[in-house]
Amino acid sequence: MEEKRKNRLSPSILAADFNRLGENIREVETSGADFLHVDVMDGDFVPSISFGMPVIRSIRRESGMFFDVHLMVREPIRYLKEIAACGADLITVHLEACEDVAETLREIRRLGCQAGLSIKPATPVLAVREYLPLFDLLLIMSVEPGFGGQKLLPESYERLREARELLLHSGREILLEVDGGITKENVSSILEAGADVIVAGSAVFRGNISENVRDFRRLLEGN
Ligand code: DX5
Ligand code: ZN
Repeated sequence: MEEKRKNRLSPSILAADFNRLGENIREVETSGADFLHVDVMDGDFVPSISFGMPVIRSIRRESGMFFDVHLMVREPIRYLKEIAACGADLITVHLEACEDVAETLREIRRLGCQAGLSIKPATPVLAVREYLPLFDLLLIMSVEPGFGGQKLLPESYERLREARELLLHSGREILLEVDGGITKENVSSILEAGADVIVAGSAVFRGNISENVRDFRRLLEGN
């Protein structure tokens, strides 16, 4: 029988108030978030630009959280060394963004980080199969990457079920993360579809942050 999985919450700081970034991060940390989701966008792989190394380095000095860095960047292999040195614990790259996916994942591990592989909504889940021995987390995008505050695509449930099935047969312990449009209303169905790491931006940072994190934690534990 499969052991009960521990579900984790990874608030995405893309939706934080950057004028009070440190404060916002402390608040998610003390109210019980597990990971911190750090979205790096290059204006090329995705249309928008977010932030990069100097920001990660600064927040690392103030926070002991597990840094879950999501690189929405073309050819991320160029930046891995620096991102690792900034204090990333896990680095996730996009399958669609890498010329050599296997080498990129290997390089993340060589740098002492956990490796994540992500796919956009149009990429078949089975495309990750050949890389199974090389990653520790699979990130299924439930919106088109590039912006926070979008609505979850309904096909994400089926994609998560398919991904869970694939990971189950991998013989390895690989986390299944989902990112984009997660709310307190849909998170229970998302967990039920097989996700165990939940990214939430707007649903955590809009309104009362501590209350939002506690509500999510309750929902995550109830599953
Ligand atoms: C989207 C980013 C997400 C985003 C999630 O491209 O990868 O992490 O910040 O934000 P919400 O939860 O608002 O959809
Ligand atoms: Zn993200």
